[in-house]
Amino acid sequence: MTDQADPFASLARTGAEPPPGCPAHAGAVSMTGAEYPQTPSKLYRMLRRDHGPVAPVLLDGGIPAWLVLGYTEVTYVTSHDELFARDSRRWNQWENIPQDWPLLPFVGYQPSVLFTEGDEHRRRAGVITDALEGVDQFELSNECLLIADELIARFAGSGQAELMADYVHVLLMRTVVQMCGMPSTGDDTLRFVDDLRISLDAGEGEDPVAAYGRVGERLRQLVKEKRAVPGPDVTSRMLMHPAGLTDEEVVQDLISVIAAAQQPTANWICNTLRLLLTDERFAVNVSGGRLSVGEALNEVLWLDTPTQNFIGRWAVRDVQLGGRQIKAGDCLVLGLAAANTDPQIWPEGHVGAENAAHLSFSNGEHRCPYPAPLLADVMARTAVETLLERLPDLVLAVEPEELVWRPSIWMRGLMELPVQFTPVVQ
Ligand code: HEM
Repeated sequence: MTDQADPFASLARTGAEPPPGCPAHAGAVSMTGAEYPQTPSKLYRMLRRDHGPVAPVLLDGGIPAWLVLGYTEVTYVTSHDELFARDSRRWNQWENIPQDWPLLPFVGYQPSVLFTEGDEHRRRAGVITDALEGVDQFELSNECLLIADELIARFAGSGQAELMADYVHVLLMRTVVQMCGMPSTGDDTLRFVDDLRISLDAGEGEDPVAAYGRVGERLRQLVKEKRAVPGPDVTSRMLMHPAGLTDEEVVQDLISVIAAAQQPTANWICNTLRLLLTDERFAVNVSGGRLSVGEALNEVLWLDTPTQNFIGRWAVRDVQLGGRQIKAGDCLVLGLAAANTDPQIWPEGHVGAENAAHLSFSNGEHRCPYPAPLLADVMARTAVETLLERLPDLVLAVEPEELVWRPSIWMRGLMELPVQFTPVVQ
């Protein structure tokens, strides 16, 4: 096959020369942002064909890592913390990582639940689990609905909207910060929501480091307020938990909760709306169609999961995995999207199931903490159903093939989701 016929062939030869002795060898595939394809499923298929369930890849700047593609292998890695652990300080590549490496925000060690291990992780994750378990799902749905209605009212009269910016991201951020004890609206909240957006996904001319600093400061203030006057919210429950987290630990873990909730859930909503608006099985009449919103949400988790790849785990010692020799300190990227479509679990070639055995929320000790997927489901369902109920003739404003995916290996979501509908007179 020529390069022209196979758009991914050139990827196999891009990227800087890997350092000697690293896992990347001839054929290692570069996974940097700009080169990341619009249809990653083809890339995963090619990687599986050429490398098996564990492929050598090059991250930004030609930094070597392993992409774990097999369902069995991802399950194995995530359930053996004694072999594949979360503290990134054991990485054997730190000497090659520049100060401004784009993935530093994801792999640079921080004293949060994300990088803790063993008993300390169980203590920190236990607090988050208990605090999230206290969220009343009906109240959450209701709060989400009120914010959704307010946002829809802003664009309903115009007959058009760009749903990512006008609806999905703001809705999610406001619902999540309210769950954590801030008011869902007001200048202070809107400033905080905007800083969150900039620190997670800065636009042209915006400073994510400064915004991240302001997010930390606002959360420190929130923790102080909730210590003084607790309320029925996630922050207060974390502070009052018998595990006795310090204020700074709560701040760090609140940042993890808010960031971990926002992007994946927003993209889950967006990918579900895209499916509903483009797939004939749903298209006739979404509210009365043959397949439900719940089925679309589940199908997205199997086929277009938001957290495509998650970085990651670091090998505690030399170990074999999927026929590869992994060295102590090597980085493993969890290929969650690839694992979900692994032909080993779909021998008939048909992917998709009504069950939730996908790995979209990962697996094992560090998986997305148990109540979180339920809460994400409540918010996602409310966001999608409210929009479709209020604007029943909603359609895409562009051809489906004109929709542009973010050029990201990590998060699968659209740059924009433009729609049109009959204007609603308020
Ligand atoms: C209310 C919404 C959510 C909250 C509060 C939340 C919270 C969290 C937190 C705190 C972690 C860190 C767990 C740890 O290291 O112990 C985490 C991990 C994770 N979450 Fe979520 N999350 C939410 C929604 C989602 C959604 C919608 C997805 C994907 C569909 C997702 C996928 C993941 C994945 C893949 C991990 C990584 C687990 C690993 O290291 O193996 N989360 N989440």
